[in-house]
Amino acid sequence: MPLRLRGLGPEVSPSCVLLKFWGAMAIWSMLTVGVSAFVIQPEEHTVAAGNCHFRGKHPQTRLKVEGEPVAMRCPQVPYWDSASAGVNVTWRRNDSTTIPGEEKTRVWVQDGALWIVPALQGDSGTYICTVRNASYCDEMSVELGVFEKTEASLSLMSYPQIIPMSTSGLLVCPDLSEFIHNKTDVKIQWYKESVPLDQGGEKFLSVRGTRLLVNNVSVEDAGYYTCAMTFAHGGRSYNITRNIKLRIKKKEEETIPVIISPRQTISASLGSRLTIPCKVFLGAGIPTTTVLWWMANNTHIDDAYQGGRVTEGQRQEYSENNENYIEVPLIFERVIREDLHTDFKCVVINTMSFQTLRTTVKEAASFSWGIALAPLALIILVLGGIWIHRRCKRRTGKTYGLIELKTGHQDS
Ligand SMILES: *[C@@H]1O[C@H](CO)[C@@H](O)[C@H](O)[C@H]1NC(C)=O
Ligand SMILES: *[C@@H]1O[C@H](CO)[C@@H](O)[C@H](O)[C@H]1NC(C)=O
Ligand SMILES: *[C@@H]1O[C@H](CO)[C@@H](O)[C@H](O)[C@H]1NC(C)=O
Ligand SMILES: *[C@@H]1O[C@H](CO)[C@@H](O)[C@H](O)[C@H]1NC(C)=O
Ligand SMILES: *[C@@H]1O[C@H](CO)[C@@H](O)[C@H](O)[C@H]1NC(C)=O
Ligand SMILES: *[C@@H]1O[C@H](CO)[C@@H](O)[C@H](O)[C@H]1NC(C)=O
Repeated sequence: MPLRLRGLGPEVSPSCVLLKFWGAMAIWSMLTVGVSAFVIQPEEHTVAAGNCHFRGKHPQTRLKVEGEPVAMRCPQVPYWDSASAGVNVTWRRNDSTTIPGEEKTRVWVQDGALWIVPALQGDSGTYICTVRNASYCDEMSVELGVFEKTEASLSLMSYPQIIPMSTSGLLVCPDLSEFIHNKTDVKIQWYKESVPLDQGGEKFLSVRGTRLLVNNVSVEDAGYYTCAMTFAHGGRSYNITRNIKLRIKKKEEETIPVIISPRQTISASLGSRLTIPCKVFLGAGIPTTTVLWWMANNTHIDDAYQGGRVTEGQRQEYSENNENYIEVPLIFERVIREDLHTDFKCVVINTMSFQTLRTTVKEAASFSWGIALAPLALIILVLGGIWIHRRCKRRTGKTYGLIELKTGHQDS
């Protein structure tokens, strides 16, 4: 008697289950082998044929001075796992002359970097760096411009740097890593607008080789700086200079904002247009980090008035007498009765504080009282008139009325 398995339907024998299982396995393994063969083959083919993925041109053009040494790193190398073995870096010019990997000529490749010592104007052009391992390859191009050393070319080649106005800040002589690699004593001379700086004084101090400490940073320190070092190669000494355009950033501070308007109540006529400005005083504080908005019944204006009858106006930042202000208006296209019962609130927040100011809309007094009292006054007048008329009738009788009638007649 064959064994029966429960839950697999009627009359299913174990041998049948096993058969189905093996069948499925065979199909699955055939599929995976087929797919993997399909996937791996084109990839191997691509690399073998040197068909590299081109990443494009690096956005930064390298601008150098004629006569100075140049060392360029492959721009896409940071995307690669540089520690992994078997990564091969090659350089070639756009016109496809491959650059030799040995230090025998003026131009060579060493540890993945392209060296040109010294650079000539004819070296200007496009260079393509190829990085490959056993399974992957990509390329990127770099633009090099070599210029004669002139005032104009120096300002064109300057590296922008910014230090904030404060007690001290650092200038860095940039793009020297290839030249100071493995060197313990790096001597850099600093100049400001071609005048050598006293680098051991109270104002400037040379620190850790490539840095210059600037004390008491003020707006007068802005301008062009030059740093220079010498580099020896093949029994010759070369100058390497870098130009820096230094900008001094005014110190930014944050203050506690103060909401100075709106007033507690605002008068408006129903049906009219209304603008309530929320004005915030910042003093010397910077507006960029201060956020300002309006709320109605603790709901954002956009959510409370989806029809757009009430909106928040454009934010304005301005200065009056060197004090900074921010203003955001609340704009009613048309004031309706509901607004008189709504709680409006201006909210201001920055890292130092959070503040709110509430305001309510009141119906304008002069207009509304007139409207409300006019019918009442009319009724009082009419009633008063009737009362006086009746009293007069009772007291003086018809004669008085006749005299009155007569005089009235004479007058006309
Ligand atoms: C080749 O480089 C690619 C991209 O960095 C990496 O994913 C892959 O594992 C590397 N292959 C080998 C064999 O090192
Ligand atoms: C790098 O690739 C080039 C060109 O394919 C080859 O001539 C060179 O021997 C390779 N170098 C290394 C270290 O694999
Ligand atoms: C190589 O140079 C030629 C002529 O200067 C230019 O037309 C071409 O676009 C350059 N190719 C690359 C990849 O920069
Ligand atoms: C920095 O400036 C202040 C005021 O201008 C001055 O008193 C101080 O001596 C200066 N410090 C240095 C190191 O120059
Ligand atoms: C390097 O700069 C120094 C100082 O400016 C100068 O005396 C020297 O002639 C320069 N050397 C070269 C090779 O340009
Ligand atoms: C705000 O609340 C008041 C009272 O609860 C209500 O009368 C008014 O309609 C509300 N306004 C809005 C815009 O929701």
